[in-house]
Amino acid sequence: MIADKILTNFSQIFCPIDNGQPLKGAEMDQADVIENGFIAIKDGKILKVAAGEPETSLIGSHTKIVDYSGKLASPGLIDCHTHLVYGGSRENEFAKKLNGVSYLDILKEGGGILSTVRSTRSASFENLYDKSKRLLDQMIIHGVTTVEAKSGYGLNWETEKRQLEVVKELNHNHPIDLVSTFMAAHAVPPEFDGDGDAFIEMIIAEMLPQVKEENLAEFCDIFCETGVFTAKQSFRLLEAAKELGFKLRIHADEIDSIGGVDVAAELKSVSAEHLMAATDEGIKKMSESGVIGNLLPGTTFSLMKDTYAPAKKMLEAGMAITLSTDSNPGSCPTSNIQFIMQLGCFKMYLTPVQVFNAVTINAAYSVGLGDTIGSFKEGKLADIAIWDAPNVDYPLYFFATNLVQDVYKHGELVSKNHQIL
Ligand code: NIG
Ligand code: FE
Repeated sequence: MIADKILTNFSQIFCPIDNGQPLKGAEMDQADVIENGFIAIKDGKILKVAAGEPETSLIGSHTKIVDYSGKLASPGLIDCHTHLVYGGSRENEFAKKLNGVSYLDILKEGGGILSTVRSTRSASFENLYDKSKRLLDQMIIHGVTTVEAKSGYGLNWETEKRQLEVVKELNHNHPIDLVSTFMAAHAVPPEFDGDGDAFIEMIIAEMLPQVKEENLAEFCDIFCETGVFTAKQSFRLLEAAKELGFKLRIHADEIDSIGGVDVAAELKSVSAEHLMAATDEGIKKMSESGVIGNLLPGTTFSLMKDTYAPAKKMLEAGMAITLSTDSNPGSCPTSNIQFIMQLGCFKMYLTPVQVFNAVTINAAYSVGLGDTIGSFKEGKLADIAIWDAPNVDYPLYFFATNLVQDVYKHGELVSKNHQIL
């Protein structure tokens, strides 16, 4: 078959092993790393990836050939946990943080998430759209081609809906593909005066059915944490969401281990997120029930803690893990997934191959898109990050610099030389 486009002469191409499911435990050590190879693209999809020169049967009079001598290619990166859409920012809390006031204490005083709720409620659709678009523009130049985005800064229907509609509109208009998660259960809003049970019941009775009816999200998530929502409340909400057909995620063991992992295992949540405080018993449960551990080391870094999630233990226990930014205005204000990948190495001692698998193939399965993205299997979408790096190790070792040079989405060049086109 004749290719539309062939990207040639890569010094390395990182090809995750794609067996139709996330890579678990020791499988995450494996990848096909092709030396001196090419990527042939047809109709926005992968036609062939192989070593050497492309054969003449792939090349027609209209085939565009682009030379990428000395560069590394990987599948487009997938940021599978972000709080993308919000009003305002929280640099005013930074000094408090530096003076030792904890994240949960700032929240207790009405700051933190609740401060962003106030800014988001008063922001217009256009304002939220522009702000989120700017974040996506930054993400794409760092090599990201798919993003999971959560609501959760409205905590009332009007604003939660506005956030979800912003995600829907961006999914139409922006080259990045978005996967939407409904997360009204992010904090108890002031109107409920600390009554988490009543708020959860309101979400179940009034919001969940509307999110479903208007097809505004595929996943449902909740913040299971001391002083936020209990494991019992999390179970109640996620069970109701599951009955309505939502796929599940849960913020669990971020700061304290209060049972969120058990909820994830029991309800077969696709993933449990954060897991900084995960216990050995929790890890065993997640491994047995096939829950993906989504690790967010940028949050540990930004919360100024040294309790990074025990990634190695999770791999030893046979879990599948992913890494993502948690991009949000409070606990992890960043759009740079490369820095998160580097923290995966520097702070969790993952290898470059494990890290690349975490943000490609495993992240694809964690957002429910394992059949179309995350690897270079023939027929998958040609979402490609091209790195100004000669091999897989280099972008993890050379840190805090954007090393993604070009990005292809559905076979089209969407970012060139660090500039969005
Ligand atoms: O994943 N944990 C809850 N939510 C976010 C933080 C949101 C915020 O601080 O605004 C998180 O860390
Ligand atoms: Fe989060």
